[in-house]
Amino acid sequence: MGGAVSAGEDNDDLIDNLKEAQYIRTDRVERAFRAIDRGDYYLDDYRDNAYKDLAWKHGNIHLSAPCIYSEVMEGLRLRPGLSFLNLGSGTGYLSTMVGLIVGPFGVNHGVELHKDVVEYAREKLEDFIKNSDSFDKFEFCEPVFVVGNCLEISADSHQYDRIYCGAGVQKDHENYMKVLLQIGGVLVMPIEDQLTQITRTGQCTWESKNILAVSFAPLVQQSRADGANKPDSVRLPPVSVRSLQDLSRIYIRRTLRRLGGGGDDDDWDWGIDGRGPGPTQRHPATTAAAAAPTPQTLPPPPPPQKRKRRRRCSRRRFNAYVFGDSQLINPKPQAKLGCGSIGGWEEEAEEAEAEGREERGEEGETTTTTTTVEEEEEEEEEVMVVGGEEEGEGERERDMAEVETLKQANVLRDQIMALPLPESLKAYLLYYREK
Ligand SMILES: C[S@@+](CC[C@H](N)C(=O)[O-])C[C@H]1O[C@@H](n2cnc3c(N)ncnc32)[C@H](O)[C@@H]1O
Repeated sequence: MGGAVSAGEDNDDLIDNLKEAQYIRTDRVERAFRAIDRGDYYLDDYRDNAYKDLAWKHGNIHLSAPCIYSEVMEGLRLRPGLSFLNLGSGTGYLSTMVGLIVGPFGVNHGVELHKDVVEYAREKLEDFIKNSDSFDKFEFCEPVFVVGNCLEISADSHQYDRIYCGAGVQKDHENYMKVLLQIGGVLVMPIEDQLTQITRTGQCTWESKNILAVSFAPLVQQSRADGANKPDSVRLPPVSVRSLQDLSRIYIRRTLRRLGGGGDDDDWDWGIDGRGPGPTQRHPATTAAAAAPTPQTLPPPPPPQKRKRRRRCSRRRFNAYVFGDSQLINPKPQAKLGCGSIGGWEEEAEEAEAEGREERGEEGETTTTTTTVEEEEEEEEEVMVVGGEEEGEGERERDMAEVETLKQANVLRDQIMALPLPESLKAYLLYYREK
């Protein structure tokens, strides 16, 4: 199955083709596809084929064609905060893309028949978390994979907002799949050679729509040879409330990402602020997250004109920061740091602090801070004038190249590395990144 769109040279090329052919139709899905390189889920020797619209099978490892995954991702109507179950989760490619959309307050579970494939998926996931720049640009719900036959899920299992089945479902198992779904939830599965989208509209009602004609290998049936050898039921991973430590990490990374302007999530729904899971019932983890401090307590993103006011690298830097009221504040200037530090924040944080003080009527401090800001603006003007005299075309070009390099850098990782924190804490904030 596949071959519906032209082959790409690389991942971006493949996604361009899928978009052009209307398989990818929404920004959210497009971003998830661009963030994960399909080639990373291939064995090295076969990677060259990863950007063709073709399925790939090697031993137990099996990836569906990109046009199918595009239809699945669109058909699932994913949003932040939803719970997702992948039946036949394979390499984890699809689950990882879903994790970028459902975000840290979603749930992301997968069941896969083959132990070696689950091990492969776990390796790929670890590689993504440790080495991909996309991991720092998005908020993420890590998939959890279990080994087992997805037709043997224990009867007392929780239900999910979104379910995908990656292998052909027999008509006999249609109801089994449908009851795993929450009311309001969406199930996408291949059944009778049609990729079908089923929405649970009530306790006993579902609506069904065919999306695409497909040909899938069938789900492996239960190994229930006789009653005596009845296999154990497959237990899905528990849905647990996030620890305070985890929540702190999520919020610190989110705050840094927003302040540094290095993320893709500024215009995303975050799934915990009421714009996430809409009409469907909230999952326990999501509900617990909703009780946690919401993004509304974060400082609003700085207005665009302030971000544009870029300062030169020779500017004064601070190396002490305090987290207060969800804002990063530098209590006092301490030292000069190089360009790799958290450029741009200190001025903005200081201004925000000054504005806050002004609102609270703390005049004395406001005056002091305002003076500092004014001095800095003068300093900046001076630099600009000197720059105007000194800078030739070549230097301007070098500056532009420098800006480009900075844009390409992994902003969040650099920010965390520049924080005056113990190494172990930085490693925790980086999810033990090796890159
Ligand atoms: C086309 S692959 C899915 C690939 C997956 N979507 C990915 O992102 O890599 C289908 C997967 O379903 C698994 N599978 C087949 N029957 C199964 C069953 N009864 N229970 C669990 N997994 C099953 C296969 O081992 C295979 O990995």
